[in-house]
Amino acid sequence: MTNIFGWDSVQYSESKKAMIILDQTLLPNKESFISINKESLLKEAIKLLKVRGAPAIGIAAAIGAAVVLERYPAKTNSELINEFNRLSKELISLRPTAVNLKNSLVRLQKALIEHSFGYNVKELKALLLEEALKIKEEDIAANIKMAQHALTLLKPGDTILTYCNAGHLAVSRYGTALSPIYLAKERGIDLKVYVCETRPLLQGARLTTYELKKAGVDFTLICDNMVAHLMSQGKVNAVITGCDRVAANGDTANKIGTHTLSVSASYYNIPHYIIGPSTTIDYSCPSGSQIKIEERESAEITDMWYNKKMAPPGIKVYNPAFDITPAKLISAIITETGIYRFPYKFKIND
Ligand code: MRU
Repeated sequence: MTNIFGWDSVQYSESKKAMIILDQTLLPNKESFISINKESLLKEAIKLLKVRGAPAIGIAAAIGAAVVLERYPAKTNSELINEFNRLSKELISLRPTAVNLKNSLVRLQKALIEHSFGYNVKELKALLLEEALKIKEEDIAANIKMAQHALTLLKPGDTILTYCNAGHLAVSRYGTALSPIYLAKERGIDLKVYVCETRPLLQGARLTTYELKKAGVDFTLICDNMVAHLMSQGKVNAVITGCDRVAANGDTANKIGTHTLSVSASYYNIPHYIIGPSTTIDYSCPSGSQIKIEERESAEITDMWYNKKMAPPGIKVYNPAFDITPAKLISAIITETGIYRFPYKFKIND
């Protein structure tokens, strides 16, 4: 597949010895790439959603940790590993639902421990970066395979409804939910897309439309509360979303509102496909009830960005960032290893 954007949302710069990310909080108004080489900047970027989307968070945490630890003056391997463990624990707590964050850091930790006797501090630091960049490369390959699998479920002329942003911005390259749409575009297959704005942070309106517009995809933006109306009029052929954590039984955490979409789709006999790399499957989590749901600041609901009030001050607000779609409602979960249907039994390796 071609990278039509010419950049990735998370990149490593050898000359700057830094991670470069596109600041997604500024989109669609400003394309600003920022350089990250300090722990405070890395944490801020993850917490404030400058980098976001489950796979992208995992990649950014891994490359970011490698970059930050490169500057850490460890004298011994165990000093370096202790510092990695501290940083890793703090990073994981910033976005507790997206499991890719934890999976990437656990993978780096394993690499450190495995090589802690044969390698010196300098070599361990280099190993961290090498492993982090491998995670990104593997994610790119996974996205291409997911696009190919998912496209077999669609037909020319279909209209897809998508939610939040599970595209190029949210991963290493191409996207999960949006990857079959980009592949279809490349192959000249006509697909149309409805993009839900995705309150409260408008990842659909700000980010998905930004990238679909750049890609020349035919799309229409709608408010989240218009979904059932569109479905009732036969205007949607398939719902496609990403995922932040898939439990072993297929229950899936994704952006708050995905569950509502899925219930509506099921009522109207419209398939709901979930696309995500196998790094989003949490085999240690038996079902959705064990997934921790991130809760975020009330201001995301009450205050417009740029500090415009959307609700009176001092009111009670509840702001869960994700919800769980029960496995039974999901028509198929697509990973790089194939297309899975209920009851879900995922292949661990390709
Ligand atoms: O809070 P966000 O913007 O990180 O939430 C993102 C989503 O819910 C995406 O659908 C999910 O991470 C999949 S991204 C390929």
